Amino acid sequence: MSKISAAITAVGSYVPDYVLTNQILETMVETNDEWITTRTGIKERRILKEEGKGTSFLAINAAKNLIDKSGLNPEEIELVIVATATPDMKAAATAAFTASEIGATNAFAFDLEAACSSFLYGMSVAARYIESGKYTKVLLIGADKNSSMINYEDRATCIIFGDGAGAVLFEPDQEGYGVQDEILRSDGSGREFLQATYGGSSYPSTVEAIKEGRHYVFQDGKTVFKNAVFNMADVSERIMRRNNLTNEDINWLVPHQANQRIIDATANRIDLDPSKVMVNIYKYGNTTSATLPLLLADYEDQLKKGDKLIFAAFGGGFTWGSIYLTWAYTSKE
Ligand code: UT7
Repeated sequence: MSKISAAITAVGSYVPDYVLTNQILETMVETNDEWITTRTGIKERRILKEEGKGTSFLAINAAKNLIDKSGLNPEEIELVIVATATPDMKAAATAAFTASEIGATNAFAFDLEAACSSFLYGMSVAARYIESGKYTKVLLIGADKNSSMINYEDRATCIIFGDGAGAVLFEPDQEGYGVQDEILRSDGSGREFLQATYGGSSYPSTVEAIKEGRHYVFQDGKTVFKNAVFNMADVSERIMRRNNLTNEDINWLVPHQANQRIIDATANRIDLDPSKVMVNIYKYGNTTSATLPLLLADYEDQLKKGDKLIFAAFGGGFTWGSIYLTWAYTSKE
């Protein structure tokens, strides 16, 4: 029997309706459209405004979109992974609620947290379940309500982040399509440069901490930027080299959308034509765990069976990595 590989067989997505433009941000903090556009590539981002709706709302809608498009029977899903840095609440897994709400009544479900690399790591986990031969339908959702941890008076962070979700279905493939290779890394010495300090177990929320805004995300942008540029480019180059892939062989780079300049630097390092680089940062900003599946949803119609994709991400922790995957279907035949 041929080896089982883990292929992506369906994609779905969801972003909230509210559009936070650079022009609106100009009225909130000392910034301007020109600075944001040239320094980040972002023009607007989506924000989930409705009270009481968390990351699960985004995840459920992305999963429903996948189910509607693919005709998947949710009762056949065996595992739901929600990759997120902004779970609905502590202790209760966002994935468990999500699975129940989409009718995945036979699935077990858990959350996976690795900041902006959550979805990339999730691809690795989902692939291992499929490759084991014991599971045939694993739903991986990347979802983040970043607006829940952003200080809209801090121009260093509020211009970057947005809310959204994307979902992919992993199924076994016996023709060899799907996840081919991965390089996944982390370095905990980087956590001081990007974190929301209060609200976790080290520093539970206090009235003082909240008054001082220490539950919001803080980042030393320059340090994170430098590490992101070096490491995303490094793993992308290495995974190509060890799979004997040249820039001609690659059909698409699927890079985490944190900053257009980081995306460009990664593409430059592997000498990839800009037409082969998936980009949607201008309309969604950085949606943390959702950037990679949102790209797949936006570019799904252009993807063809056999296309070679290089995924790359970098995020808080630090966490980063690259995955090489071959695409398993052509949408419009
Ligand atoms: O997704 C996970 C990981 N996150 C990332 O990968 C983000 C990585 N970092 C970045 O993308 C960039 O560092 C930022 C977009 C966050 C900041 O860009 P930068 O080019 O590193 O700017 P900076 O922080 O060095 O600031 C440059 C100047 C400063 O002014 P002076 O000191 O040169 O006069 C800032 O005060 O730009 C100023 N500035 C702003 N001006 C207008 C900083 N933020 C803003 C702003 N609007 N929003």
